[in-house]
Amino acid sequence: MHFSRLIQDSLVLSLGLASLAAAMPNQLVSRQSTWNPPSNLVTPLQQVWDHQVATYSNALGFRNYGYDQVMANGGYLNFCVRWDSSQNLSEAQRALFQTAIQRSVKKWTDWLVGFDGFPYSSVPVKIVGYAVRNTGQLQGSMSGYDVYTTKDSGGIPECDPRCGRFFHQDGNYNSCPGGASRHYDMSLWLTDGFGGGAGGDWGQRIGTEYFLGLLNSDNIHILLHEIGHSFALDDFYDWTPSGVSNFIMLAGSSTVITDFDGWMLRDWWRHLKTRYNLGTPVTTTRTTTRTTTPAATTTPARTTTTTARATTTGSSGGSGSPLWGQCGGANWTGPTTCAQGTCTYSNPYYSQCL
Ligand SMILES: *[C@@H]1O[C@H](CO)[C@@H](O)[C@H](O)[C@H]1NC(C)=O
Ligand SMILES: *[C@@H]1O[C@H](CO)[C@@H](O)[C@H](O)[C@H]1NC(C)=O
Repeated sequence: MHFSRLIQDSLVLSLGLASLAAAMPNQLVSRQSTWNPPSNLVTPLQQVWDHQVATYSNALGFRNYGYDQVMANGGYLNFCVRWDSSQNLSEAQRALFQTAIQRSVKKWTDWLVGFDGFPYSSVPVKIVGYAVRNTGQLQGSMSGYDVYTTKDSGGIPECDPRCGRFFHQDGNYNSCPGGASRHYDMSLWLTDGFGGGAGGDWGQRIGTEYFLGLLNSDNIHILLHEIGHSFALDDFYDWTPSGVSNFIMLAGSSTVITDFDGWMLRDWWRHLKTRYNLGTPVTTTRTTTRTTTPAATTTPARTTTTTARATTTGSSGGSGSPLWGQCGGANWTGPTTCAQGTCTYSNPYYSQCL
């Protein structure tokens, strides 16, 4: 089972990135917050929810969303980086990768902190491994990471499947050489010359150049969009909910996570939370103090990014999968041809009509 979405957008966005994330060593979390979106968002949120449930193959039965990963771990996410690049990587760059991923994940998970029984006051992120073409690409100390030269069936560096959540959704990492503590939940797959992005429960895929160029930026917006997919959020290629026109999941319309994005995320949490045995709902206000991972300080940057806006043609009937549909992968029993687009290999478990 997988959940995957891909964007290729064509709007040119000018990013003015200047905000600094403040480090908050301690955070008071109040848990009483419930579902009460701003009134202008109620209708579009319901439209989105209904659309997701109607169009995902098993929206409420699928069990490898980002929420499932965070909950299975007890409140954190491990990442492995697939360095599908000819460039070397310095220790300083890898330190920035860590803060960039943490910063990006936090922009989403902060919407869950304090909301409707979400039990954690932060979701720390840790890079536990790098998959590279050759180990000489990694300069400096590799202490604290595993280095993989494993390849997927397409010959692309891939972190050892024995350690990957995607491959072990039962949470059994007995065959992972580093054990469960070195397992990874998501891969950040960085590919030279790759435009746009792809995201799903397996992680996110974006271009190397794009990521390196925005490493210090507050909002690495394609990455933010793809992380949204990892947390079950949909694309909006063929429709727009009523009254909302700027949000990060509407590719090309926003470089930041907006309130609408945040409430879409919360909608998933409130619908999924019963699967986590959170115990009796908290009815009185309660606060806890926990230590959060200090947020990164960012350097203002100005970047122009070209992304491609795609339109989806939902093929009804006809032969082959529709544009953006699945067309291959291990255990895939559906069409292997595309009614529109070209069947494109993504990973051993997923090919998509693009
Ligand atoms: C990359 O690192 C290797 C050694 O690990 C070195 O031989 C090579 O020159 C480096 N390449 C670049 C472009 O710095
Ligand atoms: C594919 O099918 C086999 C046999 O039914 C199963 O063991 C395996 O977990 C499946 N793989 C995925 C990725 O679903």
